[in-house]
Amino acid sequence: MSQRSALDLAAALGHEELVFVQDGSSGLRAVIAIHDTSLGPAVGGTRMRPYASLDEAAVDALRLSRAMTWKAALAGMNWGGGKGVILGNPARDKSRALLTAYARALDRLGGRFHTGCDMGIEGRDAAVLARLTKHVSHARPGSRLETADLAALGVLESIRSVAALLELPLEGIRVAVQGLGQVGLRLARRLAAEGVRLTVADPDPGRVERAVAELGVTPTDPAAIYDAEVEIFSPNAMGGVLDDETLPRLRCRAVVGAANEPLGEERHAEELAARGILYAPDYLVNAGGLLSLLHETGEVDEEGVLARVRGIGSLLTEIVGVARTEGVPPLAVADRRARERLDAARERKTRGIP
Ligand code: NAI
Repeated sequence: MSQRSALDLAAALGHEELVFVQDGSSGLRAVIAIHDTSLGPAVGGTRMRPYASLDEAAVDALRLSRAMTWKAALAGMNWGGGKGVILGNPARDKSRALLTAYARALDRLGGRFHTGCDMGIEGRDAAVLARLTKHVSHARPGSRLETADLAALGVLESIRSVAALLELPLEGIRVAVQGLGQVGLRLARRLAAEGVRLTVADPDPGRVERAVAELGVTPTDPAAIYDAEVEIFSPNAMGGVLDDETLPRLRCRAVVGAANEPLGEERHAEELAARGILYAPDYLVNAGGLLSLLHETGEVDEEGVLARVRGIGSLLTEIVGVARTEGVPPLAVADRRARERLDAARERKTRGIP
């Protein structure tokens, strides 16, 4: 894809702005996508990856920034959606000069984009950035509110709600956890503490061994996790995992996980519904990580953030209730709620109402 088609995609997805950054002295090459600022400044993490091309990086930023708009809108936050991506190998190419150049690029956006950690950009990098620009935040050292743990808490509360909707006690249900990374392992710990029976998979044997030793979970091959006979399948690794090949193999009653965009295509939400599998919208279930921002920016105290994250469970119950009444997938109801909030904000902006 040429830069022209990245711009076409930006137009098709409704982006406000797409910024390409090139800094000769530090070697920084980055893309910042600002999707929508109707509800407030755009927010979204910055990731650093060795993208195959600038176009691949731009597409990642465009898709992820739009998802942030929906996530913030549904979570009731006064923030819009954005995403930053830095091209390069975080282990080799990350330098103070590169982070400084990125901070300057953020400053030039004048507060239209606020960012933090994502893949390849760790807490200590965000701490460096935060000293250079006020448009970066990160969990304070010693804070109870670690982003990945809040994401895991939101997934746990969603699973609690789904168990109730399926009229099952949480204790004793079977959950398949795909991915034991930052969120997946924390989720597995929380579920095990509730007496949930876990089947887990991760291609990293060290992570699996640790979970087995610590939690007594049942390991399975990553290729076989879709076949696990469980009540809930919980994707916590990469996106796009539920497609025409894997979806018919599922032997669960619900899909509830932290992974962003686990559906191969939007139509897979309807296919899950047709198979009687409840799909809990990813961007509602995993909003706990984003909600941590409310504390990082000083909008809400620790207890307030924890209450908001726990509230993900009750919002999910409400959305599934509406979906059942209307006979549509919960994702359709979540999308509509987010869209209504955005439309109302745009309307207020157009009319100049604060
Ligand atoms: P991570 O990179 O720490 O963990 C991903 C794990 O998945 C790794 O252990 C990896 O080995 C494993 N994995 C890779 N391929 C796999 C496969 N085929 N089968 C099973 N496991 C596989 O990532 P993290 O941060 O835990 O994020 C997981 C998902 O949750 C991502 O989709 C991310 O976008 C999403 N998310 C993360 C948040 C956070 O705060 N970290 C917040 C909200 C969503």
